[in-house]
Amino acid sequence: MNKTPTSLAYGPCADDIERILIEEEAIQRRVREMGEEISRDYAGRRPLFVGVLKGVLFFMADLLRAVHIPLEVDFMAISSYSPETRDHGLVRITKDLETPLEGRHVIFVEDMIDTGLTLGYLLRVLETRNPASLHVAVLFDKPSRRILDLEPRYLGFRLPDLFVVGYGLDHREQYRNLPFVGVLKRQAL
Ligand code: IMP
Ligand code: MG
Repeated sequence: MNKTPTSLAYGPCADDIERILIEEEAIQRRVREMGEEISRDYAGRRPLFVGVLKGVLFFMADLLRAVHIPLEVDFMAISSYSPETRDHGLVRITKDLETPLEGRHVIFVEDMIDTGLTLGYLLRVLETRNPASLHVAVLFDKPSRRILDLEPRYLGFRLPDLFVVGYGLDHREQYRNLPFVGVLKRQAL
């Protein structure tokens, strides 16, 4: 196995990384800014943050610690019908929220918008539960692949059309624990 500067710095979990796209420090800085913006916008309310497992794990954890107003958090889980063909938008809710959304100020937190079909579907589901407001906070956006027209209220980074891993994002359930976002070596795909 060829050691790269990345795998020397981060250990064997980074052996398959071709290059880092967004450094750990840049992610942390941007997430803190997003938390401060949300704190200002929702001052005096008690927003409910809703996330989809598992990709949103680290973004949610860091974002919530950067929000300085009272809040609540809940999670749902989905499974795509066909992960191999990446048949986007066809999702099944495997774990639903425990919190009723009626009258709540909901912030839907997502790791990534690609085609937008997954997010579009979930937003339609949540809308039917009559929240007082529903806005989206997304860390990574790949606008060039968008099929559904969606504008997140809070956005971390725009990415080129590349498959990336790290900071919660996986390839076949691996690489979520990398603290940066990077591109895989061709042989790992
Ligand atoms: P969409 O329905 O095409 O917007 O798909 C969004 C979902 O696909 C995200 O929540 C991710 O789970 C997954 N996804 C899209 N692009 C990537 C990527 O580059 N790396 C890892 N997962 C991705
Ligand atoms: Mg995923």
